[in-house]
Amino acid sequence: MSITILGIESSCDDTSAAIVKDGYLLSNVTANQQVHEAYGGVVPELASRVHQQHIVPVVDMAIKQAGINRKDISAVAFTRGPGLLGSLLVGTSFAKGFAIGLNIPLIDINHLQGHVLAHFIKEKDHDHAEPNFPFLSLLVSGGHTQLIVVKSHLEMEIIGQSIDDAAGEAFDKCAKMMGLPYPGGPVIDKLAQQGNPDAFTFGIPQIADLDFSFSGLKTSFLYFLRDRIKEDSDFIDKNLPHLCASLQHAIVQILMDKLIKAFKLTGLNEIALAGGVAANSGLRSAVLSAAEKYKWKVYLPKLAFTTDNAAMIAITGYYKYLAGQFASHNIAPVSRFKD
Ligand code: KG4
Ligand code: ZN
Repeated sequence: MSITILGIESSCDDTSAAIVKDGYLLSNVTANQQVHEAYGGVVPELASRVHQQHIVPVVDMAIKQAGINRKDISAVAFTRGPGLLGSLLVGTSFAKGFAIGLNIPLIDINHLQGHVLAHFIKEKDHDHAEPNFPFLSLLVSGGHTQLIVVKSHLEMEIIGQSIDDAAGEAFDKCAKMMGLPYPGGPVIDKLAQQGNPDAFTFGIPQIADLDFSFSGLKTSFLYFLRDRIKEDSDFIDKNLPHLCASLQHAIVQILMDKLIKAFKLTGLNEIALAGGVAANSGLRSAVLSAAEKYKWKVYLPKLAFTTDNAAMIAITGYYKYLAGQFASHNIAPVSRFKD
């Protein structure tokens, strides 16, 4: 018998719905929220309201594009957390109503596990290799920076994480300091391609073990800009590509130092990138050159599956369905999971 999962993602500012049938992606529809651009960051209250407007048409479109009937759906998987509580509530309430209406099971998904399992999304006309267990995942997003040993689809161990800001947050906050639009990560990435990564140097933190820190870099960048602007008020405009390239270089260096350390400690040489920052061209090329040096097998997810999407929620739901892991109807979303 076929297993068809409807996945719903609403943890931040993207409303997304996807259909996965027997592990194959049939549709993945995402509505972005432009409303936050004017504020230079996601405004939680606005995000939840826009999710409410988007959720019905997005789910409807995902079902239509998949070419299925809603009666074909075996279970609804939704992001339970971590994320913005108001946003999560919209997806959770919708998923519950949908599951009750069709009398099908509900499956709660940890958003971060979804990012990691994005590597297992199968597409009919697009074959790709999947990582072999156990493997090492570097999850880098706007909210999280983690090194994870992935033992099976549903068994993961966090072996290092950021003690303050996430890598994506560092990109976004520094972009804001330079007057760039939100989200700043992709903008910095693009500008960095015309800049010199060695033009400026910023403080790289010395953090123990496999943990990361980005707040020191952010402060060092802020003070650097403040001092240079005092000397020349057009400093940012004149040096934008160099600033972006140098900042990206520093962020990538922090990530790579710990990734290499984790490889040496665990001996795991299958490396899978996940999360929005995995789209970064500087990080991708640094990982690929380390792969040559250390004989890694690297897995880079398709760009559409690195940033927030419901396909990763649906595929995680598929594996939880196979394992018989369902949620009760009184489950509540959580902004963060206890450590
Ligand atoms: O995984 P994601 O879509 O959402 C969260 O769960 O946070 O990640 C979004 C983050 C943002 O901080 C965004 O600036 C960053 O990913 N990002 C990038 C790039 N594309 C997205 N950062 C650097 N370079 C990129 N090309
Ligand atoms: Zn995410």
